[in-house]
Amino acid sequence: MNRLSSLLKIAHPIVQGPFGGGISRVSLVSAVSNSGGLGSFGAHILSPGEIRDVVERIRAQTLAPFSINLWVPQPGEQDLVDLAPHIKRLAPLYARLGVEWTGTVEAAPNFDEQLDSLLDSSPPSISFVMGLPPVWAVERAKIKGIVLIGTATTVAEARVIEASGLDAVIASGSDAGGHRGAFLSPVEESLVGTFSLIPQVADAVDIPVVAAGGVADRRGILAAHALGADGVQIGTGFLATAESGASDVHRKMLASSDAETTVLTRLFSGRHARGIVNSLIRELSAEEGAVPPYPLQNALMQPLRKAAAQLGESDYLNLWAGQAAPLAGRMSAAEYMESLV
Ligand SMILES: Cc1cc2nc3c(=O)[nH]c(=O)nc-3n(C[C@H](O)[C@H](O)[C@H](O)COP(=O)(O)O)c2cc1C
Repeated sequence: MNRLSSLLKIAHPIVQGPFGGGISRVSLVSAVSNSGGLGSFGAHILSPGEIRDVVERIRAQTLAPFSINLWVPQPGEQDLVDLAPHIKRLAPLYARLGVEWTGTVEAAPNFDEQLDSLLDSSPPSISFVMGLPPVWAVERAKIKGIVLIGTATTVAEARVIEASGLDAVIASGSDAGGHRGAFLSPVEESLVGTFSLIPQVADAVDIPVVAAGGVADRRGILAAHALGADGVQIGTGFLATAESGASDVHRKMLASSDAETTVLTRLFSGRHARGIVNSLIRELSAEEGAVPPYPLQNALMQPLRKAAAQLGESDYLNLWAGQAAPLAGRMSAAEYMESLV
């Protein structure tokens, strides 16, 4: 027990990182929480009603604490963009995979409405990435006793998270898989590795610090605690467990030597995320800076991802993974938790 496990009311200060994009699973969250860690569900694509439903379904599977994660919208993302040149740019890829652009971009769920629904559902904890929750949400969470966790990629972000009244901070090093979510400085200036970031954040804030990025086994946990962290958040390691929503092809790639090479790219979603390098990333690398922001780029890539998933074609999929991916074992979440504890 330490101050993080006391705050979260969990037996072991191990957080299962949330997965966005529809690959979080209630079964994974409940398996981790039932094993004494904190299971987390990534809810950024869910409607307010779906969020209520997920919280209920998790509650039906575990009496232990868990967390729900939301992406904070970033300035300028809702601005209108002329999609025509982007669709034209992607046309050869659509043709190659035999898909057609549907002509419509589905609106992303409204963040304030998601948050309102989530607060009504009163999960034990809510985590945020890519920014800060609004003041009204922090106030409502405090009244309800919901533990709020922010995600920082720099020391400055950790300080702002603490000053905003959040209860704990995830310090996410640039080693981490998936979306990390720098929000104060450009991503290029927010690439501090976990080893450098954790002790600096631990020195800078008084709230509990959760180390994320590159932790996948007991050695990583020991190192994180030695660096001053109160706990760890593991994403890629849990992605490889039986209960995650990772596709077969994603699992296969995580277990292959390809997982030794990951890069940060915004080609799939419009926001920077770390994944295994594949043909699509190499082919479109020159366009990194030109693609429209999230959620537009995410929507434009959706038909390609769907077709590639159906074909089991790893070259066109977003294969999110952190730099420690080769350390991830293939086992159940409970077995993995046991190995970490
Ligand atoms: C497939 C995948 C999806 C992710 N989606 C989210 C997300 O929606 N929200 C979030 O806060 N973090 C997300 N992350 C980050 C993880 O929760 C966690 O912080 C990170 O994976 C830790 O680094 P590691 O991969 O080296 O363990 C994602 C990570 C992966 C691998």
